[in-house]
Amino acid sequence: MIIASNFKTNHTSTSTLQYVKELSSFLQKEDLKKHQVYVFPPATAFNFFELPHNLKIGAQNAYPVISGSFTGEIGLEQLSEYNIKSIIIGHSERRHILNESNELILKKFEFFKENRFDIIYCIGEPKEIRDKGLDAVIEYNFAQLDGIDLNYERLIVAYEPVWAIGTGVSATLEQIDQTLTSLRKKVKASLLYGGSVKVENTKDILSIKNCDGVLVGTASWDVENFKQMVKIAHEL
Ligand code: 13P
Repeated sequence: MIIASNFKTNHTSTSTLQYVKELSSFLQKEDLKKHQVYVFPPATAFNFFELPHNLKIGAQNAYPVISGSFTGEIGLEQLSEYNIKSIIIGHSERRHILNESNELILKKFEFFKENRFDIIYCIGEPKEIRDKGLDAVIEYNFAQLDGIDLNYERLIVAYEPVWAIGTGVSATLEQIDQTLTSLRKKVKASLLYGGSVKVENTKDILSIKNCDGVLVGTASWDVENFKQMVKIAHEL
């Protein structure tokens, strides 16, 4: 199972250090070797963490360059200093709030693929597409995979319906199951679900046949909750 926490614009450098320390000691204590855990803190919280083998720290975003003149962005040089080799690309908050274009998303994918990053590539439909029914949902999600090398061995695809993110209302188990089943026909990579995953629904979501893990926002910002979720994954 893959259990990932996206901090978004939450936590400071100090609180992230505390969080990662607590999570690391938990992962070391329990026999959780089969599981891969990721934490994506804000870039200001990158640090020289001591990590167990099954915990990776990743970037929520970066510009597809080694270094250069891109005010406000960070590139490979800044990530490499902290040995960061994992990145989220295509998150709906970047697509919709920050107007990130498909073209830029594809550039990021190619660049970080060339640099052998673990890529959590996010797709997911907005509410108006979900309202049109499953065929429209599948078409929309497949279109977001256009141009992505689905054979890239470090690719993880996260299905995150936009309407379920940060709303407290997850997609139903049936909706997740149907969508992941359709995605599975095209995608060999691990498939995650994200969108209002909480301690209470983690078990049911992780029990869905084609679900290989979860990408969690809000509920994961509390380390105790996130540890619970890892434990639930382990007990399945
Ligand atoms: P929430 O868990 O807050 O809905 O966020 C999900 C998400 O966007 C993870 O990337």
